[in-house]
Amino acid sequence: MSIEIKEIRYASSEYQLEVNLRYEILRKPLGLKFTQEELKAEKDDIHLGAFRGKLLFGCLLLRKHDNTTVKMRQVAVQAHTQGTGIGRLLVEASETKAKELGYSVIELNARETAVPFYQKVGYETIGDTVGVAGLPHKIMRKKI
Ligand SMILES: CC(C)(COP(=O)(O)OP(=O)(O)OC[C@H]1O[C@@H](n2cnc3c(N)ncnc32)[C@H](O)[C@@H]1OP(=O)(O)O)[C@@H](O)C(=O)NCCC(=O)NCCS
Repeated sequence: MSIEIKEIRYASSEYQLEVNLRYEILRKPLGLKFTQEELKAEKDDIHLGAFRGKLLFGCLLLRKHDNTTVKMRQVAVQAHTQGTGIGRLLVEASETKAKELGYSVIELNARETAVPFYQKVGYETIGDTVGVAGLPHKIMRKKI
């Protein structure tokens, strides 16, 4: 069964899988949890998941910044399937979705360890290093 990228409805059972995956990959290693406020703020975001059947292997979300720019956030791929092309599929699908919605730019804060991945999928570093959740991040951008 191949990987399929699907939109995830906020507060659905798939959304719970998404939050669990993001917790395992992005927060737990830093000793951090999601707050109710953070999760509530995701209500109007676009959530994409990489599924094989009912199993979730990766996810990301898009949040409106302004009329031209959308922010890509919370990109996470299940540890044992990293490096197999799922991140690229998710990013490509999110660009298609963002274009459909009329956006022309995607921006993100990349952990320094993930910068080479975003460069591979066409993002450029803009500006200085910023600290997010105690980790150095680069602001990156792509015109879509
Ligand atoms: C970063 C991440 C989202 C990338 O997703 P992925 O599914 O592992 O990446 P892909 O397999 O689609 O890789 C696409 C390309 O980027 C390269 N790549 C992926 N991660 C890389 C890394 N950390 N360093 C260097 N190259 C990387 C791959 O080798 C591949 O190159 P190729 O096209 O020449 O074969 C994933 O590894 C992950 O969840 N990491 C931990 C959490 C994280 O850092 N998230 C991002 C927070 S900003």
